[in-house]
Amino acid sequence: MFGFTYFTPTKVVFGRGTEEQAGALVKEQGGRRVLIHYGGGSVVRSGLLDRVKASLDREGIFHVELGGAVPNPRLSLVYQGIELAKRENVDFLLAVGGGSAIDSAKAIGYGAVNPGDVWDFYEHTRTAGGCLPLGVVLTLSATGSEMSDSSVITNEDGMKKRGYSSPYGRPKFAVMDPELTMTLPDYQTACGCTDILMHTMERYFTSGGNMELTDSLAEALLRTVMKNALILRDDPQNYDARAEVMWAGSLSHNGLTGCGNGGNDFATHGLEHELGGLYDVAHGAGLAALWGSWARYVMGDCLPRFRKFAVNVMGIPAEDPDAPLKGVEAMEDFFRSIGMPTSLKELGISPSEEDMETLARKCAVAAGGKKGSAKVLYEADMLKIYRMANQR
Ligand code: NZQ
Ligand code: ZN
Repeated sequence: MFGFTYFTPTKVVFGRGTEEQAGALVKEQGGRRVLIHYGGGSVVRSGLLDRVKASLDREGIFHVELGGAVPNPRLSLVYQGIELAKRENVDFLLAVGGGSAIDSAKAIGYGAVNPGDVWDFYEHTRTAGGCLPLGVVLTLSATGSEMSDSSVITNEDGMKKRGYSSPYGRPKFAVMDPELTMTLPDYQTACGCTDILMHTMERYFTSGGNMELTDSLAEALLRTVMKNALILRDDPQNYDARAEVMWAGSLSHNGLTGCGNGGNDFATHGLEHELGGLYDVAHGAGLAALWGSWARYVMGDCLPRFRKFAVNVMGIPAEDPDAPLKGVEAMEDFFRSIGMPTSLKELGISPSEEDMETLARKCAVAAGGKKGSAKVLYEADMLKIYRMANQR
């Protein structure tokens, strides 16, 4: 087992109607002038934005708003948000939406309090010295951004999708009402469940030391999400299933399921981010389309973990000599059962050899040359995985 730092300062307020507390929570944090940031309009149509604004009004808190964060949120809107935040002397950010609105708000927060170009942080040429305090009203269980230190932004110049992680980016509070996710299209619910599974698996499949307690938490989380994803496929209005998935989303990416594992893999995420940047695919679907190819490529270097996963998560008999591969196949069957793709073709894209070379090159550059823990991947490995996912 490796040593670790676990820092999870986000206050979680969970349950039906909790969005009514948004104003009081901002006040508790000392926010006086708020920028509400949201996506393409689902929160307007559902009436959530009005309820959040009313709760700020009840506390006498000034607010301005900026919508328009798209999936794979863009840098140009971040710049607009920074300008608005500075012009209006904003001292608190409130993201209302899914990962894209939250990530975009984090980037606005970095840009508002740090000099220079905020994109430098995403290029990893500088480190942020702070961020405007941020609260979240979550509408999509997926990224875990409501408790994570990460933010992922796409720069339209070159369609570069890059992540930046900093302890300053962890939200001060997260309001989580599972009912708010009931208006999601089924596809987004499935993408979200996939992302949650992936955040857990990216920490589970590592080489080196592992912690038994962390493994058990991760395995329970994976089983819980799969079970409830199937319930939601058949009964999208099931509150308890929505609640299980929502809490799992936060725990899958707040650091808990990586404690003692000595570094995460996150290669599938790195490979997906390039697809998201270039083809604008939904993050969860992109992950599902790549994971099986990644798993087959790295499995030989990480066999004990794949065996443990197959037995403890996918229910493959321990004595089965082919358990590692059968575990991967069972997870792919699960992805298909909730309508997720398991190849690039099923994802709806067919990159040329040249495109895949570009993807692999960008992925390697973004990772500083290499990525992964189950197996360390270099550009040539990344290209092979893209090819495998493209040929299936
Ligand atoms: O934009 P609106 O109109 O709100 O519609 C969104 C969007 O079209 C819709 N939606 C969200 N909540 C809804 C709803 N529709 C109806 N009812 C609701 N309650 O769903 C669509 C997808 O929303 P988005 O926020 O883009 O999805 P998600 O939460 O999956 O976020 C994806 C982004 O987060 C990044 C991804 O790469 C991607 O850019 N990630 C962020 C991470 C982090 N910050 O820690 C980690 C992840 O691994 C991931 O990379
Ligand atoms: Zn993810």
